[in-house]
Amino acid sequence: PSTFYPESKLATIQFRNYEIETWYTAPYPEEYTRSEKLYICEHCLKYISSPISFERHQLKKCIDNHPPGVEIYRDRVNGIAIWEVDGRKNITYCQNLCLLAKLFLNSKTLYYDVEPFIFYILTEIDKDDPLKYHFVGYFSKEKLNASEYNVSCILTLPIYQRKGYGHLLIDFSYLLSRTEFKCGTPEKPLSDLGLLSYRSYWKLTVAMKLFDLVEFHKLNKDKYKSLVISVEILSKLTGMTPSDVIVGLEQNRALVKSPSTGKYAICINQNRIKKVIDNWKRKNYATLDPLKLMWKPML
Ligand code: COA
Ligand code: NA
Repeated sequence: PSTFYPESKLATIQFRNYEIETWYTAPYPEEYTRSEKLYICEHCLKYISSPISFERHQLKKCIDNHPPGVEIYRDRVNGIAIWEVDGRKNITYCQNLCLLAKLFLNSKTLYYDVEPFIFYILTEIDKDDPLKYHFVGYFSKEKLNASEYNVSCILTLPIYQRKGYGHLLIDFSYLLSRTEFKCGTPEKPLSDLGLLSYRSYWKLTVAMKLFDLVEFHKLNKDKYKSLVISVEILSKLTGMTPSDVIVGLEQNRALVKSPSTGKYAICINQNRIKKVIDNWKRKNYATLDPLKLMWKPML
């Protein structure tokens, strides 16, 4: 990957008032990688080499204060909004987005052939200006996916990482899958950070579902004699594929193999999974409210 542009000097990008170190090289046109710094507009994602042109662009030329596309999720309490951008309708924006993402991805990704993809952009709503949205991260998804992939590429900009936004984006991808009555899984291979984030998400999500099912059963013992939980049920409830549910169960040490029969069973230690959930809740990250989704699947 770093052999892409051996002559690339690009080391940082200016984004809002932040200077962000890049992790990998990206195939920006050569004339943009001759200096160490590239200026990127957070609204239209245009890349500019000169600070003066950048300033002019921000002050006068760029009239946007949010991503293109349709706002399909807005939560003013948590101060976040999510936008759906069609790779066919906003080609330049999506190409710029893929180039930006490549700066933080080691693997090969697409840059120019964006049309088969939809992009979901996570933004923070400005605290002082309710009409201004700050780019935080995104994931892409193939439009016609015969496969079960529900995420192609996912990114949180380094300045916003480790605040739960990766989780939120992942959660949103599963919310879309559930709304489509499907289950989904991210495209492989995942990066190291991608894998860490997904494993953490699968563990927490399975823990929450198990916990709720057990509590529900405790309250309704008269009505429902036995509590039936299976990998398939958890898959339906979460939108995760059965194999990812199994990963989540394993991480919660909730999958046990009978020494005598060799069969697997789900075994729940309610205290242990409560700890997993409480640890997460203590972080106070923004979470999704499925009722705030303004979206219907394309038919
Ligand atoms: N080190 C250790 N654990 C990490 C981690 C890191 N750098 N980043 C995420 N995790 C794990 C942690 O358990 C974390 O929870 P915690 O911060 O409360 O401990 C959990 O994942 C969720 O992290 P979260 O804050 O929701 O994720 P994020 O906003 O930082 O975004 C990525 C995660 C993967 C999107 C982000 O790291 C990224 O954009 N990386 C570069 C691009 C990439 O590799 N994308 C995946 C391609 S498949
Ligand atoms: Na999955």
